[in-house]
Amino acid sequence: MNILLLGSGGREDALAWRLRQSPSCGDLIAAPGNPGIERWADCVPIDPCDPHKVVALAKERRIDLVVVGPEAPLVAGVADACREAGIAVFGPSAAAAQLEGSKGFTKDLCARAGIPTAAYVRTERMDEALAALHKFGLPVVIKADGLAAGKGVTVAMSRDEAEAAIRAAGDGPMVIEEYLEGEEASLFALVDGTRAVPLASAQDHKRVGEGDTGPNTGGMGAYSPAPVLSPELEGRAMREIIEPTVREMAAAGTPFNGVLYAGLMLTPEGPKLIEYNVRFGDPECEAIMLRIEGDFAELLQAVARGDTFQAPKLSAQATMTVIVAAEGYPGTPRRGGAIDGIEAAEREHGVTVFHAGTARHSSGALLAGGGRVLAVTAIADTLANARARAYRGVDAIDFADGFHRRDIGWRELERNDAA
Ligand code: AMP
Ligand code: GLY
Repeated sequence: MNILLLGSGGREDALAWRLRQSPSCGDLIAAPGNPGIERWADCVPIDPCDPHKVVALAKERRIDLVVVGPEAPLVAGVADACREAGIAVFGPSAAAAQLEGSKGFTKDLCARAGIPTAAYVRTERMDEALAALHKFGLPVVIKADGLAAGKGVTVAMSRDEAEAAIRAAGDGPMVIEEYLEGEEASLFALVDGTRAVPLASAQDHKRVGEGDTGPNTGGMGAYSPAPVLSPELEGRAMREIIEPTVREMAAAGTPFNGVLYAGLMLTPEGPKLIEYNVRFGDPECEAIMLRIEGDFAELLQAVARGDTFQAPKLSAQATMTVIVAAEGYPGTPRRGGAIDGIEAAEREHGVTVFHAGTARHSSGALLAGGGRVLAVTAIADTLANARARAYRGVDAIDFADGFHRRDIGWRELERNDAA
C-alpha cells in the first residue's frame, strides 16, 4: 500500500521509520517531512493543514492510507476531506478532534458518561470565572479552552495566583477544575470508531529543567512502558475512561478513529482523565515506535478502515527517548547550530536518532531548525540499560548549541532502585 504521512516532527520521523519497515508499505510520501524523514520517505513541501492540497497529493500519488501525525490538520478537517474523497485515513474527523481541541467539550462528555476526571466549572467571561473560584480548594487549576499546546494551563497555589491567571486570560471560554493528586501516565489506544485496543503506556517529562522544574515544554524525554500503569490500572482506564468515551463519540454520530492518547492522573481512587489528545504524543511516539513489532502499516490501515484488527505486537523491552533541544527553548530557540555525528552515534551506540527540528543547509550540512531538535531513542532489556544507551548516543552527537536533561526516567528508575 502507498502511504501519505502528514507532519514534520520527531513523532513523524519515528512513524515514517516504523512504516518504512512494514512489509505492506509501498511508496511512503511525507508532507512536508523533514531531513530525518527524508531517509525513509519522499518529502513533498505542501501545507499539511490544507485539505484540498492533501487530497490532491493523495490522488496524484495513488495513496491508499493517509496517516496524520499532529493535531492541527485534524482540527482543520483534513481527515474529513480524505474520507469524503474515499481515501482511508488514520486520524479523527474535526468533530472527533474536539476531544483535544476543546477542554470544555471533553469535560462535558466525561460528566455525561460518568468518566472519572477532576470536578470542574466551564465559564465564558472573566467575572464568571472569578466568581466560580470559591467552589474550589487550593491548589486550583485554570485552563484556557482551545488548542494551547499545553501552555494554557495554570496550577495556582493561591487565590491571588488563580485570580491573576484568570485576569491574564481575560474574557473567553475557560475551564476551572479541582487539582488532582498523584502521578501522571499516558495511555495510547487504537480506536476504529467502535472498538478500542490499548497500544502502549508511556511517561514523559514536560518541564524543561532537571527534577521536573522550570517552564513547560512539548516534552523533554519519555519512556515506554510506564510500569506505574499496572495491567490492573490499565484495564480500569480502558473500561472506565477510554471505552465510555468511544461509545459516547459513536452515539453522538462523531465516531473517533485513530489513536486516542489519555493523559491520566493515577490518584488514590484510581485513574482519572486529565486530558485527551487525538494523536500520538511527542516524544512518547518515538519511544513507542521502537517497541512495535509486526506490520505497523497494516495495523494502521485496518484501524482506519474499521476492519478487524489484532492487538498490536509490542516488545517487552524498555525504551527511552532523550530530547536534545536548541538553547533558548521553550522560549526563542537559537537556530542554525551545526549538528554532527548522528550516524556514528547510531552505529556505535545502537541508538535511533529521530529528527524533531532540523534543517538541511544548501551545503548539505545539518542544522538546528526548531526548539526540540533531536530525539535520541534506545531500546534495551531494562529501563536503566535503555537510559545508559540513550545517553551514550546523546554524548556522541556534536551539537554545541544543544542542551538536554540528564534525568529522564528518574521516577521509574528510583522506584527500581528502591525495589
Ligand atoms: P493539560 O494541558 O490539561 O494536559 O495540563 C497540562 C498539565 O497540567 C498536566 O500534564 C498536569 O501536569 C497539569 N494538570 C492539568 N490538570 C490538572 C489537574 N486537574 N490536577 C493536577 N494537575 C493538572
Ligand atoms: N508529550 C506531550 C504531548 O505530545 O502532548
